[in-house]
Amino acid sequence: MGAKKKSTAKKKSKVQTSGVVRKASASKTSTGARPTSPDTTATARSWRLADIRRAWIEYFEGQKHLHLPSAGLIPAGDPTLLFTTAGMVQFKPYFAGAETPPSRRAITIQKCLRTTDLENVGKTARHLTFFEMLGNFSFGDYFKREAIRMAWDFSLNWLKLDAERIHVTVFESDDEAVQIWREEAGLPAERITRLGKSDNWWGPAGDSGACGPCSELYLDRGAQICEHCTCSDKSKCAPGGEGDRYMEYWNLVFNQFHQDAAGKLHPLPMTGIDTGAGLERMAALLNDLDSVFDTDEMALVMKRIEELSAELRADGQRIAYSAKTREPFRVLADHARAASFCIADGIYPGNTGRGYVIRRIIRRALLFARELGIFAPILHRLSGELAQIYGAFYPELKERAAEIERRLRSEEERFLRTLEHGLGKWDEYLKERRASNSPLFSGDRAFTLYDTFGFPLEMTIELAARAGLTVDLERFEMRMEEQRLRASQAARFKDFTLPSDLPVRAEQATTFVGYDLDAAQSTVLAVLQGETTVASLQEGQNGIVILDRTPFYAEGGGQLGDRGQLSGTDGALFEVSDTQKVGGFYLHIGEMKAGTLQPGFVVEAAIERERRDALMRHHSATHLLNQVLRQKLGDHIVQTGSLVSPDYLRFDFSHSERIEPARLQEIEAAVNEAIAGAAAVQAEVLPIEEARKKGAVATFGEKYGSQVRIVSMGARGDLSLEFCGGCHVRNTGDIGFFHILREASPGAGNRRIEALAGEKALQFFQDEIIECNAQTQAHNARLQLHASELGIDAGSSEWQSLVVTARLPATASAALKSAADVAPLARRIEETRAQLAEADRRLNKILRERKQAQSGQLLEQVDSALEHSMPAGACRILSHFAGETDAETLRKFGDRAKEKARGIIVLLGARTEKGPLLLFMADRAAVEAGADMSLAVRQAAAHIGGGGGGKPEMAQAGGKNAEALPAALQAAVALVAKQLGSATRSA
Ligand code: SER
Repeated sequence: MGAKKKSTAKKKSKVQTSGVVRKASASKTSTGARPTSPDTTATARSWRLADIRRAWIEYFEGQKHLHLPSAGLIPAGDPTLLFTTAGMVQFKPYFAGAETPPSRRAITIQKCLRTTDLENVGKTARHLTFFEMLGNFSFGDYFKREAIRMAWDFSLNWLKLDAERIHVTVFESDDEAVQIWREEAGLPAERITRLGKSDNWWGPAGDSGACGPCSELYLDRGAQICEHCTCSDKSKCAPGGEGDRYMEYWNLVFNQFHQDAAGKLHPLPMTGIDTGAGLERMAALLNDLDSVFDTDEMALVMKRIEELSAELRADGQRIAYSAKTREPFRVLADHARAASFCIADGIYPGNTGRGYVIRRIIRRALLFARELGIFAPILHRLSGELAQIYGAFYPELKERAAEIERRLRSEEERFLRTLEHGLGKWDEYLKERRASNSPLFSGDRAFTLYDTFGFPLEMTIELAARAGLTVDLERFEMRMEEQRLRASQAARFKDFTLPSDLPVRAEQATTFVGYDLDAAQSTVLAVLQGETTVASLQEGQNGIVILDRTPFYAEGGGQLGDRGQLSGTDGALFEVSDTQKVGGFYLHIGEMKAGTLQPGFVVEAAIERERRDALMRHHSATHLLNQVLRQKLGDHIVQTGSLVSPDYLRFDFSHSERIEPARLQEIEAAVNEAIAGAAAVQAEVLPIEEARKKGAVATFGEKYGSQVRIVSMGARGDLSLEFCGGCHVRNTGDIGFFHILREASPGAGNRRIEALAGEKALQFFQDEIIECNAQTQAHNARLQLHASELGIDAGSSEWQSLVVTARLPATASAALKSAADVAPLARRIEETRAQLAEADRRLNKILRERKQAQSGQLLEQVDSALEHSMPAGACRILSHFAGETDAETLRKFGDRAKEKARGIIVLLGARTEKGPLLLFMADRAAVEAGADMSLAVRQAAAHIGGGGGGKPEMAQAGGKNAEALPAALQAAVALVAKQLGSATRSA
């Protein structure tokens, strides 16, 4: 994540002792004292987390900051970041100047997740994965002086911290910050420490973004802390250094630069402020607690874990949260919280990316639960308590409580099924390692634990570390390579960077005119090859054209990009095969078919209309489906993925159970009803609050600006009302038809529906009809063929039950006059298929019975064949030509003969559907006497022009020449007799 510091959850703390009680003395300075400060005396009472949240909001609202909601844990619009790791993440576009903030001063209490130090959670007093970050922000408004003034004011007059104990650090060359600290806070030089880039430079979050020097506030907790501190070098105990005496509680970042993906710094158009204070850490500090796990809210979680220990342990013993047990308690508390908040935000346990991080967290928690004697799923049992505690501030925990519980439980159960075995294997591997005396734990073994038993690598590393071993990561990586290749679906344009010498300014971004037009006169702004600007594109070259305005929709919101042509007056022709969007510019990707294009040229940009129409039908159908699913299955349905292509639509949503076929039919019928109703589809752009007020459905994890486009279908959007930038039909009737192809699960806890709209549905039904009619014909013809052979009278009731009589219309368009006809046609096709399957089943049964009768007859011949068998030494050789039959019957024949005699060799030949077959068998006594069927069959096979093999007791061979089967058998008899040392006369 680049060169940056983290204000929370980062500093290593080795303090393991319980709280050192020391009360801060009352404030001695009055700098910046404000009459509005609330009646909270930190020194006189304990601070609850809720008090701190409230104080933060009140104070900064008093300073004209707009209180904005916490963004979700999935960073919207930043693929380089897995999670929201700081308050500023949702504001990256504001700092970059790409979007306009609703207010130039803002505050948030942001849900954050940082997992880089996962293995430390539980071990230290202050590491958390999930935490809340208090932040105040300026987007081109105030800068260093105000930020410092407010931090000081809030620390002294609201948090009531002792001014004498506050120390700060600043970036080494930031004289300005030093001066402001002296002037605004009257801080003496000895309490201002200058540190280098690794300590006092923050950002960017992700691959690129705002960054700058920072200044951190520390509280000196007193020399007595050093008595318990386990830091390695007490002389280094200083702000920014090791040790627990100076505790950082606030980081002020002075954003001055934008760092690009290559690491280059560019001055920001407007400077800004981004501050962050970890809420839990601040609470611990204000209450003189060492540990973030001992705050009021966490204490409730610990209590619940204690209760659960009594419920879940086999012996019913209640385990107390104490110095001895705190590691597993802390792990459980932190991990249950992280997983619950993630699931509430739509991040579900899975095998890749975010999902895998959550899976790791859950699995690690279950490993630690064992240390408390808990072997049953426990995290989902904590989710109710968490919803109680945090629900008031984070309603999503309450709203999705059932979902959180269900997903946690199923993930826990899933892992617990293999954990026991996995740990057994682990012990085994560990012994093996100890015996070999190597400090390296095998990468192959780690891979097996991962692949077969679901042990995240980090968990194995942690287990290995406890046993004093390191895991051979190189080897593990090698084994992972293949899996990773499969997992990584390199999105082609995800990482596309516009060249820095793009001959246009950011404000000139492409105007999209494609909602209303399918062709437009446009001017070429730039032409690129890959990520490089070029002067022109010549015939035969692949490239990218950027226009000032375009009717081409760029892939987004699940809808694929448009295709079409750019044609110049001079015969220039650029074939657009895809359209993507990067930073407001539309990239027309394709090939120069004729002539040349260069910046300044005017072109006629025209999309492929039919393809777009198909895209629109599928997109509008997706909206109707989304709404119907919510109506039929419940409000928990949240879109988790969507693909709108011209050929079909794919819709993923949060729902854990399979949808029964009858339910699916209902869903399909409801969408068709909405289509048949021919309702108007309208789009409008309005302020986000208004859109939300109207009840428009937003896509989960999507980031929206202050103005949003909503698409409504039906009167007052009763058929659908969604936030959407995509292209839609003007009337639901234009969708034509809708048909669900299949329903399946794309991964843990989600369902996926694939469906067709319009022409694609029509085409599908046409293909179905053709196929069904062809199968019906083929079946009836087959019946005819066997009828005479089976001796069934045409017209008899047996005959009737075998004929397929269902008739489908010759064409789908004849049957489908409106969307309401889809269900009846689908039903007719289904009935025909069912009738076909039933008739096929009956016919096959009759044919099978006939075959059985034939094979019965053959098997009846075993006794007489045995009677005709010839002695060969102590054994007997049975040779039989079985005529027409199959391999299975032959084998049964042989088995039966073996059951009836001892020292028997069975040499069989037959004509089968697959050609002539020789099957030779010998029982154990015969093999012991020297019989070798493998050898015999190979030589006999030569007669029928084939080959084969097997074992001494059984072998078989196929061939080409069935006529020669008797000769082959004869030769085999002679050969086997020779094997047995007996010159038997051949049969
Ligand atoms: N972004 C900075 C941090 O995370 C300040 O909020 O520390």
